[in-house]
Amino acid sequence: MNIAVILAAGKGERMLEHNIPKGFINVLGKPLLYYALKTFQECEEVDRIILVIPEDFFAVAACYQKEFGFSKFKQIVVGGKTRQESVLLALQNSNASEEDIVLIHDAARPLVSQRIIKENISTALKVGGAATMIPTSDTIIISKDGKSIDFIPDRNEYYLEQTPASFCFAQIYQAHLLALKKGINDVSDDLKLYRDYGGKIGIVKGEKDNFKVTSEEDLAYLLMIIDK
Ligand code: CTP
Ligand code: MG
Repeated sequence: MNIAVILAAGKGERMLEHNIPKGFINVLGKPLLYYALKTFQECEEVDRIILVIPEDFFAVAACYQKEFGFSKFKQIVVGGKTRQESVLLALQNSNASEEDIVLIHDAARPLVSQRIIKENISTALKVGGAATMIPTSDTIIISKDGKSIDFIPDRNEYYLEQTPASFCFAQIYQAHLLALKKGINDVSDDLKLYRDYGGKIGIVKGEKDNFKVTSEEDLAYLLMIIDK
């Protein structure tokens, strides 16, 4: 079974002027989280969807279940203080079997494509883990203090991570438990935990449109794309 975990339990502290967590911001009459949910719903290979939300939004999310009518969206889980905690809570409540594939996706990336989802599933099945990433078109500059330049690495070796990141359930669950045991609870990236645990990861080509809505500028750009 292929299970999508859509993370929307963050506060959206970089977009506070909306007075609502980022996933719930109104985008052309729908909450931001609707767009990723819809794409996962429409992907034949996805069997079920778990939406992770802040505690106070349980009733709102339950209304969405009725309103959207997405047959695979059967479960809502209350997330934690950090993204890592939210993912672990979703895994713990997922009722997944060891061999299931879990796709972990940020609700804040509304324009994920069917191709990215499908290739995540096939890569995770083959390799155990799948990373969605794009090459950087800009050169990365390393500056520890933000004032002077320490290092300019070769651009060709640098990529940007997107989501979903996808894994065999048993392994990503063990990776999260191991991180907790080591006292790590605020890693924003599942791939890092999975690698530290020793998991193998295959690469899926990301897309520029699969950007993360982080600031007002991103939201304005999203509106421009989907309003076309
Ligand atoms: N997320 C989550 N639980 C948390 C923190 C983040 O489920 N405790 C989710 C967010 O809802 C988002 C994704 O992880 O879909 C990526 O995080 P980010 O873009 O940082 O979103 P926020 O944490 O909501 O935003 P900010 O960092 O500006 O507060
Ligand atoms: Mg955050």
